[in-house]
Amino acid sequence: MRSLPEPWRVKVVEKIHLLPREERERLLGEGGYNLFKIPSEAVFIDLFTDSGTSAMSDWQWAGLMQGDEAYAGARNFFHLRDTIRDVFGFPHFLPVHQGRVAENLLFSTLLTQPGMIVPNNNHFDTTRANIETNHGIALDLVIAEGKDPNANHPFKGNMDLERLRRLFEETPREMIPLCMLTLTNNSGGGQPVSLANVRATAELCREFGIPFYIDACRFAENAWFIKTREQGQQDRSVAEIVREVFSYADGCTMSAKKDGLANIGGFLASRNDALLETLTQRLIVIEGFPTYGGLAGRDLEAVARGLREVLDESYLRYRVTQVANFGEKLTKIGIPIMRPTGGHAVYIDAKTLLPHIPPLHFPAQALSVALYREGGVRGVEIGTVMFGSTDPQTGQDIPAPMELVRLAIPRRVFTNSHLDYVAEVLEHIRDHRDELRGFRMTHAPKVLRHFTADFEQLVEEPVAVA
Ligand code: F0G
Repeated sequence: MRSLPEPWRVKVVEKIHLLPREERERLLGEGGYNLFKIPSEAVFIDLFTDSGTSAMSDWQWAGLMQGDEAYAGARNFFHLRDTIRDVFGFPHFLPVHQGRVAENLLFSTLLTQPGMIVPNNNHFDTTRANIETNHGIALDLVIAEGKDPNANHPFKGNMDLERLRRLFEETPREMIPLCMLTLTNNSGGGQPVSLANVRATAELCREFGIPFYIDACRFAENAWFIKTREQGQQDRSVAEIVREVFSYADGCTMSAKKDGLANIGGFLASRNDALLETLTQRLIVIEGFPTYGGLAGRDLEAVARGLREVLDESYLRYRVTQVANFGEKLTKIGIPIMRPTGGHAVYIDAKTLLPHIPPLHFPAQALSVALYREGGVRGVEIGTVMFGSTDPQTGQDIPAPMELVRLAIPRRVFTNSHLDYVAEVLEHIRDHRDELRGFRMTHAPKVLRHFTADFEQLVEEPVAVA
């Protein structure tokens, strides 16, 4: 097969720089071995996140010059409104400065009593935190294959419909204010959800009278997977598939920092006008007037253009293939990854790569520290640091089900040779993996601890810890 070159040419470049190893070591120590505390300029290849890190196109940059910075009624708001109507089919929306504000608005309003349950395939960490800080229960109901890094399933992000039905049958209706579905399933490996599963989840919600919302961050990548993997979808355009997916939903939360191809922005869309009216009042208090929602007019324009641009199928083909080829390369050199690869990232299975480090000593943290130390590469831990918990009865630490390091690929930013370099760094780590040691958390904040926790490197790995 012919190679698949980037469907763009480079117009502006940004210098990146690999610091000497001693400098990287010093920064790790000063930052408490938490990669959130490393200055970005000290990172060579930053695969920390695909969120807000996209390279905007010339068309988006041109749009910035057309930002209307009026307090009320900026033209860019209307452009974004028309785009959301065209792309998703939602008549009304509220702009917000990023996805988690949409979550905050929704959950702080809908979670009216403690103990309310919000099911999802997998809640992202901010979604979970917004539910939990509103005294709700964030329940993950992804299919069993979605929890197994080696299970081969084309739609590992699918909702487990049997468990969802059981939940609906066994729980008083008023205790489930809404059901969500995250496209693609970021916390579960960037895995897609099939069109059939979206439809079936929506039908189940309708049967029980429960509103159905989509976390739409990576909606275009999800639609590309539907087009290429789901029977009968090959001949449809991504735009058509997106319209069908969202036709089943009562609304969505969206971080435009992903498939909006923008550096900031988001929105909350809903078909429930009364709810939007209530949320508008809150939006004015926390973000701003509802035609800008915490964003400059030029940012609204960048999002409006990004949402159209992301549907370009030559872009999506390249995007998903770049991630898949990177995953393939890692597999060839013996790095265990979650398979099949997802849309925006490759997830390394640190539990398998570093079996000598027990989960409570944070093997995925050890691997992400090694990536920075060895190559100036930054990935993010998605394991016990991020999702571990403490048993409220016994006070015992409970590890997360998986120990992953996510190497997220920013959109239109790195070429394949950047990723070849990352693979070489991992090859070196693989050859020296027995020398890696676990970590102990020396500072553990209660909410979203991974952002600000500090760690200490363990000198010896005790052999007997389970
Ligand atoms: N939902 C999902 C599935 C996400 O991946 C994110 C962000 C959010 C909601 C929140 O959006 O950051 O705009 O407030 N994910 C980023 C990441 C941070 O690195 O995966 P936000």
